[in-house]
Amino acid sequence: MLSLEVTSNRFLTSDVVQMELTSEQDLGRGSVGKFIHIDVGRTLRRPISICEVDGHSLTIVYRIEGTGTAWLSERQSGEVLNALGPLGSGYPIMKSGKALLVGGGIGIPPLLQTAKELASNGVQVTTILGFRSEPFLVEEFATYSDVHVVTEDGSHGTKGFVTDVMDAFTYDTFYSCGPRAMLQAVKQRATSPGYLSLEERMGCGVGACLACVCDKADGTYAKVCTDGPVFESEEVVL
Ligand code: FAD
Ligand code: FES
Repeated sequence: MLSLEVTSNRFLTSDVVQMELTSEQDLGRGSVGKFIHIDVGRTLRRPISICEVDGHSLTIVYRIEGTGTAWLSERQSGEVLNALGPLGSGYPIMKSGKALLVGGGIGIPPLLQTAKELASNGVQVTTILGFRSEPFLVEEFATYSDVHVVTEDGSHGTKGFVTDVMDAFTYDTFYSCGPRAMLQAVKQRATSPGYLSLEERMGCGVGACLACVCDKADGTYAKVCTDGPVFESEEVVL
């Protein structure tokens, strides 16, 4: 169990919020692509990805979707959250070469720690960030990577979808997180194997309830909460 003290909670856009937390526990570097399962005062905890982690400091970025995330957005500095985690299996970090990161909407946050750790290994990182309209975290990604913004309404960067610009880059591996339709398109368009982070509704978050199963290419199934959320791109059926 993690006790996380809120140190800040601020809106990045009209409905996307960045929360900074401190933990008594050192959360280390092995948390990239993993998630925390937060008690929001409802029956079920809510899974939120780790956006950045540095020792005892943790950042999450979430979109207000319903009652749980609305409750989170109202938390004040000094309040303590109860969470489980870091949970799941995250992104393997390459040691060299070129990586392409492709994030869509609220799938973008876990790629920030990924960019940071890849860059610290000397990997050349390119990031494509896709939004409907309002961008967020762009400057943070620019610290670690060459960033390309794409918006559906054309208000920022290139107008279109992330897949419209993917062909402009060469890479050894890709890392992606976003809506399922985007992941399907990214996998189809990619010129190399890579990693996909899946989102499924969750119950327990620790492998006991089977609420989060997804189909694997070999005809078996996997639990997104423990076998994922990150899978090799060829491993899962989208
Ligand atoms: P409600 O619609 O009121 O939720 C009702 C129930 O549905 C809850 O049990 C809730 O957990 C579940 N639920 C609703 N939408 C989703 C969804 N898209 N995925 C999974 N469960 C859902 N969102 C972010 O904004 N930022 C993140 O970094 C992030 N990381 C995630 C990582 C993982 C591994 C998963 C599975 C989901 C992640 N999500 C993230 C989605 C987030 O969990 C949901 O938006 C959130 O649970 C919605 O809760 P709510 O009470 O506000 O909405
Ligand atoms: Fe219970 Fe995955 S959420 S098994």
